[in-house]
Amino acid sequence: MTAATSPRLLVALDTIDRNAAVRQAQAVRRSVAGVKLGLEFFTANGPAGVREVVAEGQPVFLDLKFHDIPNTVAGAVRAATALGSFMLNVHAGGGAAMLRAAVDAAAETAAKTAIGRPLVIGVTILTSLGDGDLTELGLRDATGDQVLRLADLAQRCGLDGVVCSPHEITALRRHCGPDFTLVVPGIRPAWATAGDQKRFMTPGEAAQRGADYLVIGRPITGADDPAAAAERIAGEIADAVG
Ligand code: C5P
Repeated sequence: MTAATSPRLLVALDTIDRNAAVRQAQAVRRSVAGVKLGLEFFTANGPAGVREVVAEGQPVFLDLKFHDIPNTVAGAVRAATALGSFMLNVHAGGGAAMLRAAVDAAAETAAKTAIGRPLVIGVTILTSLGDGDLTELGLRDATGDQVLRLADLAQRCGLDGVVCSPHEITALRRHCGPDFTLVVPGIRPAWATAGDQKRFMTPGEAAQRGADYLVIGRPITGADDPAAAAERIAGEIADAVG
């Protein structure tokens, strides 16, 4: 196993309750590098909800997985960048023109508004899809090959990295090199329940494989003491790469 630097921990605030999200963000702030807001939160609370969490002062990963024609995605990326997210994502399957439009939109908006350019991250193949699902969609390659193909496309189009399963870290790191950002959900500490995550990995294992960000939700937000759970996970990450 290669020596890895310590990945940063992001807590997934998967709730429609704006006050709960702000409370959870405050509770774990000492141990995490930022928070993730996704479709569930955004659909219920909109940009105003995002601004409220951004105002808490922690970096926000806006996980809205844009996938549309280049012009529309560019507009959505401009809006997400202006909200102050430090990282956002688009589906790599949207194609080269869409990916380039997303990267350009993020850079232009950041330059105009004097905020940092958000990392633009690609979603390859959703981990909820298996080889059977890909066949049904007319995709003949095995999931792992399709993930590498889309990550390669994302990298060539200037994206900063991809979201991936912990089981894909090693192959993606080898293929895309040390500077490509790997954002990894599907993490479960040994002491937490798996829930609906099937092919998960512990924070320490994912850290050792070379993840850059670990996205963890319910083991923290569903714990009796979220602050203690986040601190314990941060400790496990530090021990694994220390
Ligand atoms: O609660 P849990 O730790 O399972 O949350 C993981 C987060 O990462 C959720 O927000 C989920 O939507 C997201 N995610 C995932 N698997 C993927 C992509 C995103 O679990 N392949």
